[in-house]
This record gives sequence, structure tokens and C-alpha cells, in this order.
Amino acid sequence: MSRSAHPAGPRHADVLSEGHYSAPPADLNALDPKVWSQTVTRTADGQVTVGGIEVTRLAEEFGTPAYFLDEADFRARCQAWRDAFGPDADVFYAGKAFLSRAVVRWLHEEGLNLDVCSGGELTTALDAGMPAERIAFHGNNKTPEEIERAVAAGVGHIVLDSFQEIVRVAHIADRLGKRQRVQIRVTVGVEAHTHEFIATAHEDQKFGIALAGGEAAEAVRRALKLDGLELVGIHSHIGSQIFDTAGFEVAARRVVSLLAEIRDEHGVELPEIDLGGGLGIAYTSDDDPAEPHDIAKSLREIVTRECAAAKLRTPRISVEPGRAIVGPTAFTLYEVGTIKPLEGLRTYVSVDGGMSDNIRTALYDAEYSVALVSRSSDAEPMLVRVVGKHCESGDIVVRDAFLPADLAPGDLIAVPATGAYCRSMASNYNHALRPPVVAVKDGAGRVIVRRETEEDLLRLDVG
Ligand code: LLP
Repeated sequence: MSRSAHPAGPRHADVLSEGHYSAPPADLNALDPKVWSQTVTRTADGQVTVGGIEVTRLAEEFGTPAYFLDEADFRARCQAWRDAFGPDADVFYAGKAFLSRAVVRWLHEEGLNLDVCSGGELTTALDAGMPAERIAFHGNNKTPEEIERAVAAGVGHIVLDSFQEIVRVAHIADRLGKRQRVQIRVTVGVEAHTHEFIATAHEDQKFGIALAGGEAAEAVRRALKLDGLELVGIHSHIGSQIFDTAGFEVAARRVVSLLAEIRDEHGVELPEIDLGGGLGIAYTSDDDPAEPHDIAKSLREIVTRECAAAKLRTPRISVEPGRAIVGPTAFTLYEVGTIKPLEGLRTYVSVDGGMSDNIRTALYDAEYSVALVSRSSDAEPMLVRVVGKHCESGDIVVRDAFLPADLAPGDLIAVPATGAYCRSMASNYNHALRPPVVAVKDGAGRVIVRRETEEDLLRLDVG
């Protein structure tokens, strides 16, 4: 393996002002536990291990690029959420972050429920043995066929997202001779401090029914009249990758005041509120996410206090974390290919994956960290942009980061915190083969989603 040096070019003001990075870290070999999963460590010989296995062994056995998911960490995070909210609340894992049959089994074993938002997620959940009553079905445009499957399967909740859907679900339930438990998703009018594409509680977007102007109250009126529906609660999801918990608190207050209005108008105290997901995670050392314990405490306090003030029985609270459970549990392992130093700018490090396995940088301007993991290095830090092998210049995995200047083709680098919304949003762009997800635990790796093959691509191409 050659070890040529690629010095960082001069970092002039333009580059610095465009960049997202701060100063190079004091120690490029250090692995910040905020962004790496629990069992990741660097051993004395400089290699990184996860679940007790060296990354070079993982690369040999499973290839690159690949996502390695720390099963012990996943289970620990499930337990932390469950313990934080306690027996009087429910934690629904948001399957959109990453879902596979193994994940469903872990959730089941750890006592979590599951939020699904498509027929495909529902099938995966049921196939892996999640009891239907522990599944909530979401989405702004569920098809009649999806609704029918969900009702027939006996899902615990359908979260109604529009006036039309109130009627659709009621008719389907009637036809199947069932009474479907439902919640109504409301938009509480909170501007969550996150990327526009993942904020969902302001009024001008496609989800839910607005509290403002009495729309949500009208939806409740209609739902309560329909025999096919058993309205049990109100749902709010304000957005994703949120650090400022004030938005959740405002949402909780507004949802409780709707419950009070409903009691006053209909004499009915709805027994549940769901405050959605959205808690942010650390992608870089600059991020400081809240702990489940703190968010649980503050939500419980607000709901209890507001309910007491409105003389309401405190409803059962549920939450739907996706990213905060699975995000930090996985890293993507890549092999370094071409290294291209651009004099006066930065060094482009190309890896064997890219926007097909992590679209988040291109789509949301997301920030990631990266480390050399197949060895340690004492070389100087060099400013890099980690890019993929796709045919466009937006194909960026890590916009700005520092790697050792002796980085060379064949080295393995890893991008942490890729457990959420990376494999689940992966594509076949340029006919890339979507990478496998390998669960690592107690010294062994187990493929839970296999690598796509060229035969898989050709199988769909039937022309
Ligand atoms: N509940 C509902 C109703 C949701 O729509 C979502 C996410 C969640 C829960 C889970 O949110 P989390 O705890 O994972 O933030 N693709 C974007 C994220 C989109 C989130 C969509 N809904 C990303 O990569 O950042």
C-alpha cells in the first residue's frame, strides 16, 4: 500500500468562509464518543474496532462500502428511551429511519412499539413478528389499499392526516366490520429550528391538520361522529434533527389545550397524546443533543402541569424517536480511492460509495465527521472533502473535515452516525449497488440487509 503525502493547500479566507469546519481537532486519532457508537474503540495497534472486531476484518469479510450497526448500542438506546418515559408512556421507534426484520425483532424484545408510514414498512413489521396492536400507521397520503391492510391487520393506531382520510379510514373500517383506533395529526404552528425540508409543524406544508382557525377542532368533530373510528388521541410531530427542545414544549402545551377544548365541547377526554419524534443527534463534536431522560422529564412535567390547570386527566404520552435511536449506532465504512489535492483549495478524497448511500449531505447540507480507521497516523491534519464515485459534483459525503496528510488509496475511513436515513434513503443512482447493513455484536458480524448485486438490478429490468 503506497503512503504518499497530500499536504493541505493554503487555507485562504474564501475557503474558510465557505467551509463548515472549525479548527482541526487536537488529535486526529481520537474518536469522540458523542458521534461514534458505544463499542467503537481504537486499539493499541491503531485500528478501530466495533463490537470487538477490527474494521480491516470487517472489510475483508463484508466488503466496502458497508454500514456497520452496533447492536448493543441500538438495544441500549431502546432501553434508555423506554426507561426515560417509563411504564405510563409508549415509545414508538420511527421505522423510516432504518427498518429491517432484525431491527423489528430487537424492538419487540426491548419493549418498543413501531411507527410505520408505508405498506412496505408495515409488511416488514408484521413479517418480523411485531404484534399489530403495537404498530402505528402514519402518512399524508396512505392509499386505500394500505389503509385496508392496516385495518385488517389490526394495527394499534392509524394517524389521520387530512379531512379526506378521516372519511376514508372510517369507510374502510365499516366495510371490514371494525372500529379502528385513530389519532388526529395536528400542526401546532411551531417553527422548528431545523432544515426546511424536515420541519413539519409550521402551517405551510403537507402534513396534518392545522390547530389554527379551528381546523383541528372540526376534524375532531367529524371523527367523533363516525362509527368506524375510535378517536383516542392527538398527534403532533414538529420536525427532525431538532436540538432546541422548546418547540416540543410549545407543541405539548397546544395539544393539551386542544384536549381541553374537546372535553368542553364534547364531554370527552381523549386518553392519548403523541408528541412525535425529531430529537437531534451529534453528527460532529459541535452538536450537543438532549438526553432522552431530560426530554421525557420536561414533556411529562409540561403535560402534567397543563392538564392539572385545565382539570384534565393526564393522558398517556407517546413519542416516536427514529434518528435518536438508530442514528448514532452505525458508521459507514469506505475504502479510499483517488486522492486529488487541489492547490490552494482542499484535497478531494474519493471513496467507493457516495450520494447513493448517504444523500443527506447533498439534500440537507448535513454535516458529518470522518476518521481514518484502518490505522492511526501522526501525520499533519489535511483539509479534505470526502466525495463519492457518482457522476455529479454534488456527490459529497463529508463537506469539510480533517484527515491525516499521509492518507493513501486503500486506507479505510469511516463516517459515523449514519444509522438513520442513510440506508433507508439509499438509491441505485448510476446503478450503484446499495451497501449491506451488518449488525456487529460480541466479536461477530451478521448481515441483516445484504449487499445488492448486479443480478438484483437486472432482475427488475424486464424490458
Ligand atoms: N414521527 C413522524 C410522524 C415522522 O414524520 C418522523 C420523521 C419521525 C417520527 C421520526 O423523526 P426522527 O426522530 O427520526 O427525527 N430524511 C430526513 C428526516 C425526515 C424525517 C421524517 N419524519 C433526514 O435524513 O434528516
